[in-house]
Amino acid sequence: MNIVITGASGGIGLALAKAYAKPGACLGLIARNPTKLTGIAECCRQQGARVVLGLLDVTDAEALQRWLLDFDRQQPVDLLIANAGVTSIMPAGGANESWHNIQQVLNTNIHGVFNTVYPLIEPMRQRRSGQIAMISSLAAYRGLPITPSYCASKSAIKSYGEALHGWLKQDGVKVSVVCPGFVKSELSDQFPKPKWLMLSAEQAAQTIQRGLARKRTLIDFPLPLAVGMKLLALLPASVAEPILQAFGYGATRKPPVKPGA
Ligand SMILES: NC(=O)c1ccc[n+]([C@@H]2O[C@H](COP(=O)([O-])OP(=O)(O)OC[C@H]3O[C@@H](n4cnc5c(N)ncnc54)[C@H](OP(=O)(O)O)[C@@H]3O)[C@@H](O)[C@H]2O)c1
Repeated sequence: MNIVITGASGGIGLALAKAYAKPGACLGLIARNPTKLTGIAECCRQQGARVVLGLLDVTDAEALQRWLLDFDRQQPVDLLIANAGVTSIMPAGGANESWHNIQQVLNTNIHGVFNTVYPLIEPMRQRRSGQIAMISSLAAYRGLPITPSYCASKSAIKSYGEALHGWLKQDGVKVSVVCPGFVKSELSDQFPKPKWLMLSAEQAAQTIQRGLARKRTLIDFPLPLAVGMKLLALLPASVAEPILQAFGYGATRKPPVKPGA
């Protein structure tokens, strides 16, 4: 099986790389950090996989497209996992999210995913085979005041994946959207509030691998958090926002004091 994973140098991507590394597998591992990526490649080789490294920034559309098409010509991709992502948390104390952070989130989490997926759609359609997985988040279900641009980016990816699923199914290409809850990683370490029902990256990778093997359209977990977020999305803001606040995902500043209060 030929598998490409972006963001393979840490967290969920690293755990997925190790989960898929076995004899007969050829892994294309993409990230920017050469030291981390080389170490992971070595570990996957020791597990019996062939590894091709892509020291690439997913926001560099042209370089990524060249690499993906070259990899695909040599070993047709069976599974493409667009996983690379970054987050941005609202600063405590009431300051707005920095413009730099917003741009980084949108460029990596939206453009980076489109840059990853788009080049391989036509080759997969022509072969009438292949599977595309996009790592979104449970944060896609309902905007969280503590991390606005991240939620927006993950909603965009969820929506793109759902739409591609419907569009590509008659071409024999499967698309899955993955919406994890909290997973222990450098990304989630930045989240300052309680991380309910947090899983290890290995547990998350196992759930994702199982869901992808079953060709599930939507892989969201853990179940209680997924159900909670779906219910929250049905509620009016006047009810949902106090609930988010109580769980620590609301605004990071105190409400203004009313004059005379
Ligand atoms: N952890 C969670 O709680 C959680 C929950 C829901 C969804 N997710 C999603 O899961 C995915 C993986 O997150 P994680 O928690 O595993 O985070 P992580 O440990 O911080 O790993 C992120 C990976 O993305 C790569 N990356 C970031 N920007 C990149 C860029 N411009 N070009 C290429 N690679 C880039 C990083 O590698 P380099 O720095 O080496 O490039 C790293 O390998 C993300 O899409 C995230 O939104 C995570």
